[in-house]
Amino acid sequence: MKYIHLRSRSLKRLLSIGPKNKFAEEPSKADQINIKSSEETSLYTERPQKPTWRCYSYEEIHQATNGFHRDNLVGRGGYSEVYRGVIGENKEQTIAVKRLTRTLTEEQKEKDFLMELGTVGHVSHPNVCAFLGCCIDRELYLVFEFSSRGSVSSNLHDEKSPPMEWKVRYNIAIGTARGLEYLHKGCQRRIIHRDIKSSNVLLTANYEPKISDFGLAKWLPTEWSHRAVAPIEGTFGCLAPEYFTHGVVDEKTDVFAFGVFLLEIITGRKPVDGTHKSLLSWAKHFLKDGNIEELIDPRINYNEDQEEIQRLVFVASLCIRASAAWRPSMTEVLELLEGLEIQQDRWKMPEEEAEEDEFWDFDDLDDDDDDYGPETPSSHSSALSA
Ligand SMILES: Nc1ncnc2c1ncn2[C@@H]1O[C@H](COP(=O)(O)OP(=O)(O)O)[C@@H](O)[C@H]1O
Ligand SMILES: [Mg+2]
Repeated sequence: MKYIHLRSRSLKRLLSIGPKNKFAEEPSKADQINIKSSEETSLYTERPQKPTWRCYSYEEIHQATNGFHRDNLVGRGGYSEVYRGVIGENKEQTIAVKRLTRTLTEEQKEKDFLMELGTVGHVSHPNVCAFLGCCIDRELYLVFEFSSRGSVSSNLHDEKSPPMEWKVRYNIAIGTARGLEYLHKGCQRRIIHRDIKSSNVLLTANYEPKISDFGLAKWLPTEWSHRAVAPIEGTFGCLAPEYFTHGVVDEKTDVFAFGVFLLEIITGRKPVDGTHKSLLSWAKHFLKDGNIEELIDPRINYNEDQEEIQRLVFVASLCIRASAAWRPSMTEVLELLEGLEIQQDRWKMPEEEAEEDEFWDFDDLDDDDDDYGPETPSSHSSALSA
């Protein structure tokens, strides 16, 4: 059996990861569609079902949310307010109504609305928040299936709730990877989400993750290797170096943010804490030293789930590589998370490149940047998440 070899010798503790047979035996969600295990091909060889959505009247959503009553306000992000609502003759369907609130010109608001609509209107996957429709009476609203447990962020960081169990965390990591792999490879257009983070991954009653918030998403035409975007938006602490410094995005930009998301799940720490210390710069020392016990959330029992924890830490360390070319694709991430045997040669960086590939962190960037003004990437929060 071959093992992983990392540039830091002490990370060899991660090396004793074999194939993860458990997942091989279990039918995965992706079994509904044909699975191929080549890195070049998508997991999705058949077109997913066409999404169906409709236009709602203002009266419908007004009634559903009880007139946008405060008690139904479940989330507030950088750009919107989200209300819980119930519709149907017997109020059998629970919906989330997203009202765009960013104080913009009407023209910009319409543009944002159409951009998000253009993406969510053609995606359909068990790990992507289902779009039900929109309302264009009076204001602009997007309507989604409701995720009753709110965001991963609120579940992970709510001190009043019991700590999230490891199995739940691992399942969230795999489900989110499936959703992201679908966006990159499985749907008709390549979609770069640009804002993968724990407050944009929602949880159903069964803790099934759903990627949401396509407000910043971009299509990447097939023939393009990357795309330049301006302004640089996203969330501080989750941005890949090539995006932060050059405004260039491709699938690997999302892979980087997914790596930070994994670190958040593993450590139970926010990407940027109250002192503006980034999770990346905090974690990099432990990753370099292979000190997993210091890295993981103290509420997790390392001894019980060592192999899965090591696997997740290893995948996170690949995703947050500064060099986009040396990050895995989401197809590869998924294969690793689902138990593929980790091949030493596959992930080893040449010595010279490894030396240059310093972990990206924000220590030197946030010194004189206390309030993240409009010139810097925005930090979204969802303090009201259920
Ligand atoms: N479908 C949903 N079900 C439950 N809560 C949701 C749903 N969509 C959004 N929310 C809540 O609202 C918050 C903000 O929504 P989001 O779409 O991320 O808006 P923004 O673009 O402003 O960040 C989320 O973090 C989440 O807590
Ligand atoms: Mg959001």
